[in-house]
Amino acid sequence: MRWALNIIGYVGFGLRLIWPGQELPSDLDPNAGQIRQIVSIMVLPTLALKILPFKWAREAYEGKINFLQYMNEFLHDKIEEAKRGGPQKEGMDIMGQLVQSKYGRNASPASESKDGVPNILNDSEIIGNAFIMIVAGHETTANTLHFALLELANNPGTQRRMQRDIDNLFNGADPSTWDYERSINALMASYTGAVVNETLRMMPPVTGIPKVVNPECDQRITINGREHVLPAGVSCALQIVCAQRNPRWWPTRPSERTGKPNDMDDFLPERWYRSRDELRGAKREGTVVDDVAVPEDKTDYGGFQGSDTSAALYRPVRGSYAPFSDGPRSCLGRRIAMVEMNAVLAVIFQKYSIELAVDDWASDEEVAKMSPAERRAVYARAQERSRQLLREADSVLTLKLHGGRHVPVRFVKRGCERFVADPELV
Ligand code: HEM
Repeated sequence: MRWALNIIGYVGFGLRLIWPGQELPSDLDPNAGQIRQIVSIMVLPTLALKILPFKWAREAYEGKINFLQYMNEFLHDKIEEAKRGGPQKEGMDIMGQLVQSKYGRNASPASESKDGVPNILNDSEIIGNAFIMIVAGHETTANTLHFALLELANNPGTQRRMQRDIDNLFNGADPSTWDYERSINALMASYTGAVVNETLRMMPPVTGIPKVVNPECDQRITINGREHVLPAGVSCALQIVCAQRNPRWWPTRPSERTGKPNDMDDFLPERWYRSRDELRGAKREGTVVDDVAVPEDKTDYGGFQGSDTSAALYRPVRGSYAPFSDGPRSCLGRRIAMVEMNAVLAVIFQKYSIELAVDDWASDEEVAKMSPAERRAVYARAQERSRQLLREADSVLTLKLHGGRHVPVRFVKRGCERFVADPELV
């Protein structure tokens, strides 16, 4: 969470946050702007939060007030900066750019479009967008990275393959020398990209994407050749986990791990190296899936038209993979998120490996004396517990391990692994 907050702080606001162990300026309140109780803040009006006699309501109220105060001061600083001619340093600083568009030297003159909507955001809308950017761009990425790390610990073979690709790509060079233009496509087409895609397929942070039918008119959709009417104004949610685990739309094989007829519930980045040919005409669970059942949907719903995944990897049938949603209101931060997650994994796994902690079953001394077979056995217990916990992840705003549940892990310098370097551990 801290890592993701640092990144969104930098790309969204041009801020550098401090890490544990770094000095905090004495005049800064470490809790300022911290928002816990995010669901209560979004659902309840401020007055209700203020008067409700519960600790969570007080926390939510204070968090909201702190955040707004912080953002107002921050906005004021950015306005001053814009009036002085803009930021001195380079960087994305999305909020700075929104402020520039209103207060900068090259600001567009305020005008109204045909339907009476002003062409620039007012201050409150800039703060609203800043809030969305933090909420939408922080937990989502952090949870995906968390699940990716756990799956890499659960699947040592996958971790080793990803590290091999990272070594081939960067040849031991320090991350500060990595070049975005030269490396990003290759990284996203490598095993690292496949790990990120597979994590988003299995554990998308937004499991049910809320939508509302245009209040002005009914909408007709066709499912399995039958037309259905969604009445005007009706709310519905796209349950993308179902689509993303549906063997009808993915090339699958029988599960080697569980013995199930298909491997859609297994974490298998390898599937991103399969081809669509495996889907066309293949026989799965008694159904023949042919080209007619795998239509190429070219409908223009507006918004981003490209693919969320690298062209070098498997291209899912449209609609079967949509962690960032689809259409005009789909995720604005998908590119930032994809770059961020791929880069974070590459930076960590160039130098470190991740292992499930086995402290509940054996001490460090006991592990040191174990034979390879004994180590595999104790690791298998940790894998079983970790997979069980991952199945308990649930969605409150985003999908994660709620309620303090966690999987204990250890990061170890590469070369010092106790478990995951064993080629027989998969
Ligand atoms: C793994 C990371 C992420 C995932 C899976 C994700 C997913 C989503 C989804 C499903 C939506 C709803 C789209 C819809 O209603 O159709 C959304 C909206 C949005 N996301 Fe993301 N997101 C991620 C990261 C980010 C980041 C890093 C940012 C900002 C830098 C961001 C900014 C936004 C914004 C601004 C919206 C609202 C778009 C609108 O309403 O027009 N997201 N995201």
